[in-house]
Amino acid sequence: MEKTNVAIVGLGTVGTGVAKLLLDHGDRTARHAGRTMWLKKAVVRDLEKARGRIDLPEDVLTDTLDDVIQDPDITVVAQLIGGLEPARTIMLRLLESGKDIVTANKALLAEHGPELFDAARRLGRSIAFEASVAGGIPIIANISQCLSANQLQSLEGILNGTSNFIVTQMDEKGSAYADVVRKAQELGYAEADPTMDVDGTDAAQKLAILAHLAFGATVDWHDIPKIGIDGLDPADLRYARQLGYRIKLLATADLAEDGLELSVAPTLLRIGTPLAEVRDAFNAIRVVGDAVGPVFYHGLGAGQMPTASAVVADLIDTAVGRTKLTFQTLEYFSSENPPRAKQRD
Ligand code: NDP
Ligand code: HSE
Repeated sequence: MEKTNVAIVGLGTVGTGVAKLLLDHGDRTARHAGRTMWLKKAVVRDLEKARGRIDLPEDVLTDTLDDVIQDPDITVVAQLIGGLEPARTIMLRLLESGKDIVTANKALLAEHGPELFDAARRLGRSIAFEASVAGGIPIIANISQCLSANQLQSLEGILNGTSNFIVTQMDEKGSAYADVVRKAQELGYAEADPTMDVDGTDAAQKLAILAHLAFGATVDWHDIPKIGIDGLDPADLRYARQLGYRIKLLATADLAEDGLELSVAPTLLRIGTPLAEVRDAFNAIRVVGDAVGPVFYHGLGAGQMPTASAVVADLIDTAVGRTKLTFQTLEYFSSENPPRAKQRD
């Protein structure tokens, strides 16, 4: 059976999950890819750091990126360092050395997507990014492939697992905000800097990626009006519940006559409706297409193994040449018509 040699760069929460899946379940990848996926290298910056309960073969761990770049047998790399730098430079170096990339780093794609995808196109390489939005929910593939016969009309979703975990725990258990933020960090849901989760930045970056795929809109995430959950008071959640509502951090994109309306904000949702019942680190997305009508997706949006599930699926797709997705810079909406604040009732 053929073998695809894979490397991981960044062995944190997600990277460790990907390594576990590749080491423990090579048979699954063989079933789906018709080949085994072999973890040849994992690049870390500190060789001495404990890596949870993962037992890596001795020659796999390295602190030298060149061990990947200079190895022609490694064709696909999971780039799982968060933030912008050195992630951006590493990704460009990997592309230039002929590697296809899989990444979960939405901040990087939202900020530098056009540059990275242009480089990939120029070099004939691919970048797969299913894990960058909504963790284990296959929303990227669904929007860009399964629903491609539709003109999508609207998209609304809970896209940040940490925020949803925090509001759920505060609402249902009366937990203190600071305690739940700490718990979300311990559980591996939060970004290295959890401010990005609670101030709406992470959800806005994911919304920009989805808007690009769903509506062909070139959206700068900085232009999306956003309010996070960091200003919520426990009393807000309590009063909302007494009135029959829950408060959720909702990201919305609506196709209006004169452009795309985008926003991220804590929103009142009537108890019993599907989005109001999304709990803890789960995410959900509701899209409406002109042919298909409404479609609802629900699943774990953060956490080690759900995210690893999406990364490994992308590795398999890349290995068998199914990854053709690129971040095309479609001028669907002109720059004179930027995304604007959604008017709320
Ligand atoms: P972590 O902070 O747990 O892991 C990142 C890892 O990258 C760390 O182990 C860090 O090393 C390592 N790293 C940083 N710089 C370098 C470098 N120069 N060379 C080698 N390794 C380096 O983050 P996560 O695993 O949680 O997230 C990774 C990415 O996945 C992020 O972009 C995040 O937004 C995204 N993501 C995360 C999800 C989650 O649920 N956690 C879900 C979906 C996406 P060190 O340990 O030394 O700090
Ligand atoms: N910090 C992110 C979240 C990870 O909580 O949703 C998943 O992208």
